[in-house]
Amino acid sequence: MANAEKKTILSGIQSSGALTLGSYIGAIRNWVELAEDYSCYYCIVDMHAITVRQDPETLRRNTLTQLAQYIAAGLDPEKCALFIQSHVPAHAELAWALGCYTMFGELGRMIQFKEKSAKNADNVNAGLFTYPVLMAADILLYQADLVPIGEDQKQHLELTRDVAQRFNGVYGETFKLPEPYIPKIGARIMDLQAPENKMSKSSSSSGGCVCLMDKPEEILRAFKRAVTDSGAQVRFNPESKPGVSNLMEIYAVCSGKTLPDVEREFSGRGYGDFKKAVGEAVVETLRPMREEAERLLEDRAYLEKMCADGARRAALTADKTLRLVYEKLGFVAKPALPSEADANTIAKPGEAAI
Ligand code: TYM
Repeated sequence: MANAEKKTILSGIQSSGALTLGSYIGAIRNWVELAEDYSCYYCIVDMHAITVRQDPETLRRNTLTQLAQYIAAGLDPEKCALFIQSHVPAHAELAWALGCYTMFGELGRMIQFKEKSAKNADNVNAGLFTYPVLMAADILLYQADLVPIGEDQKQHLELTRDVAQRFNGVYGETFKLPEPYIPKIGARIMDLQAPENKMSKSSSSSGGCVCLMDKPEEILRAFKRAVTDSGAQVRFNPESKPGVSNLMEIYAVCSGKTLPDVEREFSGRGYGDFKKAVGEAVVETLRPMREEAERLLEDRAYLEKMCADGARRAALTADKTLRLVYEKLGFVAKPALPSEADANTIAKPGEAAI
């Protein structure tokens, strides 16, 4: 399919910590599948990450590691625009404009804001509150048709649509309304130790979260210790058997089997056997990605070149939308601004022209 006919996808993941099995199953695996048929923009949202305090060196390392993992997972940087959010200034600029079309009450209802502000009670900053506006800007800048996400981001996507509709209502058709793409299996991978909570790096339970760069022995140990229930049957029922059902979803995704297949395979066998099989399937799914990401991380120049290329391609589309928005808002057309290379040829205020 020629690019002009292809629909557009945008998605992103925060670089606030190591990528988890949850974000792989809920998001990245679908990004890879969809990349063949769509024009794709996949970013590493470092600006979202600073809504929670980050150590600068760790953030930089996590951001480049995440880029290596995107590529190692199968995203071809020649085909998809893989980029770092802070490299494309239009994200912050559109976020400001959209913030003026987003209501205080709407942002206050966001579940992620409530959860994160409870967890970071000493740092409930304005960025944490306006976070969904930046996410709306990420999506709307690219006129995305589809946004592959896990279940927990659905509310943010609904807000994105509401804000886009409000803006379109005032200024005429400006933004395309994006649809969420939420997988049927694996949209909400739960913590292995506390299966009532979403798996996340910041979750408090130790051994509850598996990361893409974890060593095989760590992964096997985490699954061996995973919480199940007092029964003995491998049956899918997230309400009454949350631990087992979560493991079944993970196994189904990693082995390519259906949930009924998984029930049949483990019928009459104990949880011990089942948990071992899940651990092994996860290890084999993640192994090639970890090894390739480790290899790519040795070549920082390559990673920097890939994300620079990605940012240039992203900026081309993003700037076009931003220009349209500024025009609709009534801003005077923006002149071309000097680049860093022109610095010596332009006089500072108060200096004579060069
Ligand atoms: P983030 O960084 O928390 O998670 C990245 C993606 O992974 C999915 N995910 C999960 N899916 C299933 N089970 C889990 N346990 C799990 N944990 C994470 C998330 O749903 C998400 O799709 N606000 C976003 C990042 C973002 C974004 C965007 C996403 C910023 N701008 C634009 C899409 C489009 C976030 O915090 O996701």
